[in-house]
Amino acid sequence: MSPTLRTRIACTVYPSAGAAALAVADELRARLAGYPSLVLGLPTGNTPVPFYQELSRLHRAGLLSLAQATSFNLDEYLGLAPGDPRSFRAWMQTQLFSQVDLPANRTHLPDPVEPAAAPEESRRYEQLIREVGGIDWMLLGIGRNGHIGFNEPGSARTSRTRLVELEAKTIADAAKTFGGEQHVPRRAITMGIGTILEARAIRVMAFGSAKAEIVQRALTAEPTELVPASLLAGHADVRFLLDAESAQLLGQ
Ligand code: PGA
Repeated sequence: MSPTLRTRIACTVYPSAGAAALAVADELRARLAGYPSLVLGLPTGNTPVPFYQELSRLHRAGLLSLAQATSFNLDEYLGLAPGDPRSFRAWMQTQLFSQVDLPANRTHLPDPVEPAAAPEESRRYEQLIREVGGIDWMLLGIGRNGHIGFNEPGSARTSRTRLVELEAKTIADAAKTFGGEQHVPRRAITMGIGTILEARAIRVMAFGSAKAEIVQRALTAEPTELVPASLLAGHADVRFLLDAESAQLLGQ
């Protein structure tokens, strides 16, 4: 922890991404010990991989159970067939769901429906979250353009789960997974910023120097819809967990 950092949002700087992932996993383990039926908000991407690996390890060691938990992922691409290995559902299955004891019927992602059905699917997702009493603990990554979930710059602070068009930077970052930018879906369903802000606790992980500039903007600039992650300022329980590289422009 660097007590000298002056940021609008609380943050902790760890010596490595692995150390930050261990800290987040440890927090989750402690929360689950006190309240096993936790409702989780979960991200995909490169950033949470070490965190999911640690959850899997803790589970194998008999130190963590998600048997009574529920999960809601942030987003899902549209335009992929159900079961497509490049979908976030498939990614979550590989990285986490197949590794732990979270019951399959309590793992939620938006369904990859036809665009015309997206408004109805978005309402269904919001309703599901309401029915379980809201999200207790939400983990986020941050895109190089400041997006959280697929809330691209310009997303309203009050936005709800909805169909979104992906930005060029987001499409470029996904190109590797899809074997070229031309194959990346252009649309997705994402939880809204308003939906995210209703989570009782929010943790954001960002690692590596490619995130340094956006981390600085998100944590130090006046909150603005042009940097969606900056809108987390003012939430009652939000913290960024960084490594030295992503934090390198803070405190300057
Ligand atoms: P990344 O993506 O973890 O792959 O960097 C983060 C995000 O786009 O939210």
